[in-house]
Amino acid sequence: MGIAIVGCGYVADSYRYCLQLHGGALRLTGVYDRDSERLSAFSGYWKDAAYPSLDALLADPACRIVLNLTDPHNHAAVTRAALAAGKHVYSEKPLGLSAQEAQELAGLAERAGLRLAGAPCNFLGESVQTAWAAVRAGAIGRVRLVYAELDDGMVHRADYTNWISRSGRAWPARGEFETGCTYEHAGYALGALIAMFGPVRQVSAYSTLLIADKKTRPPLENPAPDFSTGCLEFDGGIVARVTNSIIAPYDHRFRIVGEEGVIDIAEIWDYGSSVILRRAATGRLGRLIERRWPQLSGRRLKPVRAPLLKRGPGRPTMDFMRGVAELASAIYEDRPCKLDAALAMHITEVTEMLQHPDRFAQPSPVASSCKPIEPEAWATGR
Ligand SMILES: NC(=O)c1ccc[n+]([C@@H]2O[C@H](COP(=O)([O-])OP(=O)(O)OC[C@H]3O[C@@H](n4cnc5c(N)ncnc54)[C@H](O)[C@@H]3O)[C@@H](O)[C@H]2O)c1
Repeated sequence: MGIAIVGCGYVADSYRYCLQLHGGALRLTGVYDRDSERLSAFSGYWKDAAYPSLDALLADPACRIVLNLTDPHNHAAVTRAALAAGKHVYSEKPLGLSAQEAQELAGLAERAGLRLAGAPCNFLGESVQTAWAAVRAGAIGRVRLVYAELDDGMVHRADYTNWISRSGRAWPARGEFETGCTYEHAGYALGALIAMFGPVRQVSAYSTLLIADKKTRPPLENPAPDFSTGCLEFDGGIVARVTNSIIAPYDHRFRIVGEEGVIDIAEIWDYGSSVILRRAATGRLGRLIERRWPQLSGRRLKPVRAPLLKRGPGRPTMDFMRGVAELASAIYEDRPCKLDAALAMHITEVTEMLQHPDRFAQPSPVASSCKPIEPEAWATGR
């Protein structure tokens, strides 16, 4: 099925690299970026046809799906234009900058009889599928709790100016800091959670901007929250704690806690990540081993299948195109898509609740207080 890329920035190279895995399902008709230098760098590197304008891309009957890889502030405008031109759309996350905007886009698609799907598609990846197959098979008993971490370390202190994509796009730091790590990343945990446990019923969240000065030149005008955490409630009494930050040390674990054990995906951004099953230790020795040598207390689960991506420096660890291929197959087979508009819309709403809890409910002030302990008292241990 014919697809065209709009937005040839940093992530577009990862999508383009993964296209080779889907030669049977997807055919790239061309690419477009409104930044002409970016367009020629990208199309030159990959030897792809470049459309001269968005209108030209949208007028091409060979293109059935528009792959919207623009930055989040431009998602809605490009998706609207594509739907108006009769194209199906696969959009990078978030679908829109608010639940309201995402809802509007979903409505437009539905009325036009077109498909609208959204990234991320990592819940179709081998590591999440392996974990989910084990949960379904009862390996950890009844699921009670999930801890999903999306901490990226102090990104503003990293040497991110050296993060360059294959076709030469520098990582768009300003955009990332102003969009916010929760908008950028929560979807990787939410997609997996919702695919496994159904829709989120209730959210209790907190977010804040801990370090406003991210040392950019010029300074950021609107730095977004750089830390958020929230508890999500699902049917069946399952609770997930999702944490996003670009402050705390790097940690992308996704741990599913059942009554009989724990399944631990080491890296939610890696389709080839190890997935470890740990039984809850009961005896004294078992609990000691669990505490002191956690690496000894689990067994690696056999992946549902070997990841198709070959690993190596500079190669993506996720098959970004898998969701687009799923959308194309769903259209071709006239069946529901696993990443449909309702899912993308739901992820967008929960993401907004995590990043901007103040838009939904006021934080509760604490009535009581207490005196801080004097430093001398700490020092003497009294
Ligand atoms: N950067 C990453 O590592 C990464 C990883 C996964 C997903 N994503 C997601 O991918 C999306 C793009 O991120 P990015 O890092 O590639 O951003 P980017 O800023 O590097 O690229 C966006 C590109 O879109 C172009 N663009 C914007 N509006 C346009 C329009 N109306 N018409 C044509 N081109 C337009 C820009 O010129 C730019 O080249 C975001 O939604 C982001 O959340 C990024």
